[in-house]
Amino acid sequence: MRTKIKEILTSDQVNYSVIVKGWVRSFRNNQFIAINDGSCMDSVQAVIDLDTDEQLIRKIGNGAAVSVEGTVIPSQGKGQKVEIKVTKLEVLGECPGDEYPLQLKNRPSLEFLREKAHLRFRTNTFGAVFRVRHSLAFAIHEFFQKRGFVYMHTPIITASDAEGAGEMFRVSTLPFDNPPRNEDGSVNFEEDFFGKSTNLTVSGQLEAELAAMALGEVYTFGPTFRAENSNTARHLAEFWMVEPEVAFNTLKENMDLAEDFIKYVIRFALEHNRADLEFLATRLIDEEKQKPQQERSEMGLIEKLEFVANNDFERITYTEAISILLQSPHYKKKKFEYEVSWGIDMQSEHERYLVEKHFKKPVIVTNYPKSIKAFYMRQDDNCEAGKETVAAMDILAPGIGEIVGGSQREERLDKLEQRMKEMHIPTEEMYWYLDTRRFGTAPHAGFGLGFERLVLFVTGMTNIRDVIPFPRTPKNAEF
Ligand code: 4AD
Ligand code: MG
Repeated sequence: MRTKIKEILTSDQVNYSVIVKGWVRSFRNNQFIAINDGSCMDSVQAVIDLDTDEQLIRKIGNGAAVSVEGTVIPSQGKGQKVEIKVTKLEVLGECPGDEYPLQLKNRPSLEFLREKAHLRFRTNTFGAVFRVRHSLAFAIHEFFQKRGFVYMHTPIITASDAEGAGEMFRVSTLPFDNPPRNEDGSVNFEEDFFGKSTNLTVSGQLEAELAAMALGEVYTFGPTFRAENSNTARHLAEFWMVEPEVAFNTLKENMDLAEDFIKYVIRFALEHNRADLEFLATRLIDEEKQKPQQERSEMGLIEKLEFVANNDFERITYTEAISILLQSPHYKKKKFEYEVSWGIDMQSEHERYLVEKHFKKPVIVTNYPKSIKAFYMRQDDNCEAGKETVAAMDILAPGIGEIVGGSQREERLDKLEQRMKEMHIPTEEMYWYLDTRRFGTAPHAGFGLGFERLVLFVTGMTNIRDVIPFPRTPKNAEF
């Protein structure tokens, strides 16, 4: 039976036999093979006999797959407690050094590795990132399940545009070259697979609301798709979203839930992925050294995560946020590229000023202008004319910007219907959504957390393409 390297390195035992299989990370002095099997950050050192067959030795290059049998013994070398004294070595798959892309460079850049995305799992950085991603996914389920939420699978193919933003990928089986057409020349989707126009979901929220209005507390965690043509380090065309939806919750309770949730999953990673995070922290220090002094972050990665997990998030209204921006030295020195005034959709430079320069901690911004938010958000009562707001909340994180978007939902049928009409959202087609307001409506609230933005935050990586195994961005869907 194969033993995982993590087990060997975390055990206090010695003098037992093991079989280890993995890939060669380095081979020194024709004797010391560092083997990694992906179970943890570290490699185990396997020591082979000096009189090992030369033919076999020539096959042990970086990246080769090997199987070793031997005894775990205390190690003389520094930096490792144990090593394996090999009694049997087998090279399962050679890795020709002159052709292997990861061999070509000493420390390949992230850009280089993005071009070799199929191989990047083999590096320490990506190994750490994807183990952390995995842990966070587990922690998300654990958090909600401990609180009695029901995990709800919402559809990936849908006929609705939940956000009303129109950034959807169409799903169709109609022929591209000559689709059936209506008399006016438009494509006749009645002849399409579903008998209507359908798309990949941008959010599971509307369906989650249906479930929450009966099951009470639900959450979704699945892929979502947006055809926004923004080639930024924060946007993907395919990303994973976590969307809790809770009957009877108000905006305040929604904020409390989101804050508890983020702190919980960060603590989980700190506890379960210490070695990975420590490795990523040193990687980050190296990266920070390339930046000018004033742009370097004041805290190390672990310190930042501990700070966020143990301190209250700041909570301010949108109106307060705008006035902070208007009074900032940054504004007075005309350092913002985009204008600042009540009613703007804050740009990431504004959000980052609030979290990184002003508060230096995560900030929850609430009560945004109604005009820049989705139709389903609850309209605030008693607003000043021209300054109508909704019970929205965005959570802004240092280094990331928006990580969560959510709101209390409009539960009043008349207000919801009127808003949908104003925004040209077809009320007849969305009868199923409006029925929740017709039959036993109740206050409720929820939010969406962009999973990759959370992984970015926890790993300290700077480009969202580096925290999802197979990034989908404009002009990029390699495999
Ligand atoms: O703010 P958004 O658009 O909110 C919704 O979709 C709501 N229906 C959620 C809800 O209330 N149930 O998206 C939620 C989060 C954002 O805060 C961001 O973290 C992430 O999803 N996100 C993206 N992440 C990566 N790439 C993109 N293109 C993203 N668009 C949104
Ligand atoms: Mg948003």
